[in-house]
Amino acid sequence: MVYRVVLIGAGIISRNHLEAIRQVGTLEAAAVADTDESKGKALAEEYGISFYRDYEEMVTKEKPDIAVIALPHHLHASCAVWCAKQGCHLLLEKPMALNVDQCDEILQAVATAGVKLMVGHTQHYWPANIQAKQLIASGELGRLLAVHDTRHLYYYRDNRPDWFLEKAKAGGGILMNLGAHSIDKIQWLTDSRVHRVKASVTYEGPRGDVEGSGCIFLETDSGLSGVIVQSGYEGPPKDETELIFSHGMAKLISAKGLWISKGGEYEQVEPIPEEDPFVLQFKDLLQAIGNEQDPDSSGEYARSVIAALEAVYRSDRTGVEQHV
Ligand SMILES: NC(=O)c1ccc[n+]([C@@H]2O[C@H](COP(=O)([O-])OP(=O)(O)OC[C@H]3O[C@@H](n4cnc5c(N)ncnc54)[C@H](O)[C@@H]3O)[C@@H](O)[C@H]2O)c1
Repeated sequence: MVYRVVLIGAGIISRNHLEAIRQVGTLEAAAVADTDESKGKALAEEYGISFYRDYEEMVTKEKPDIAVIALPHHLHASCAVWCAKQGCHLLLEKPMALNVDQCDEILQAVATAGVKLMVGHTQHYWPANIQAKQLIASGELGRLLAVHDTRHLYYYRDNRPDWFLEKAKAGGGILMNLGAHSIDKIQWLTDSRVHRVKASVTYEGPRGDVEGSGCIFLETDSGLSGVIVQSGYEGPPKDETELIFSHGMAKLISAKGLWISKGGEYEQVEPIPEEDPFVLQFKDLLQAIGNEQDPDSSGEYARSVIAALEAVYRSDRTGVEQHV
């Protein structure tokens, strides 16, 4: 069977999805919708698919099996609920929604419609992350005791779409967008859920009203401690996760690889063959649809990331530790 896919949102991430669809034999891209006509039409032409300005019209006419929702965060919930009601399986970009209440609306709509929902937590598919998860499970370096995750990325680049810097539309700044990846990465790597946080954020960016940096101290329900430090201000880019074990350490550098130390300098672990994370993500969704099971990155799972982020912002506001 070939599944027809439509894309809602023709922005930065849409190409990753369309390239992945090309590589998965059982998927066919049918159409793309975007309120920005020139952007949407150009993408549709490039990939030889239909263009619509209105996603409701597109879904009604195209009757796709799967809708990929790649919209600004404030539109995730309304779009996912509407598409679920039309009977589409959903690949909804991360973060799932602006808050837990919206996540619950999506979960309710998906359950009622009997469709599958996967949220695009692509961290699960990067080869070095997969190797790190295996390393933790193997016990080779002993017990995992702490995680230190750092992300530095200039967040105010001129071509960043404005909505990312508006709290009402993005739900938050660097933590909502990239912190969602860090929280997901820590939860997924360690098979645990963040259940306690103490966090503070800063608002020093040149535009917008979202936080430009944040520090999170967290604890998971397995008793693991973690620190996430993110900065969107000027500085050298960095995207690293250090894992501190009882008998060694590991360093995960995003999209680059995994290093381990059993004492002394880090040595790189032989990389595993790379497969496009967006391809693996679609394969996971297809398996979930075919086997009538929830994908790894289910709606319930993605809700836990939003619940942790809500607690982060609450902790910053109140100045005290928050339970998730
Ligand atoms: N998984 C990842 O690694 C990853 C990477 C980048 C972005 N993302 C996520 O993907 C989503 C989209 O991000 P992006 O960087 O592509 O943003 P973007 O701003 O480049 O794209 C969003 C698009 O949605 C369109 N749009 C807005 N309102 C619309 C509407 N009502 N109907 C149809 N189209 C509408 C905009 O015109 C724009 O083209 C976000 O949730 C983001 O966090 C995920």
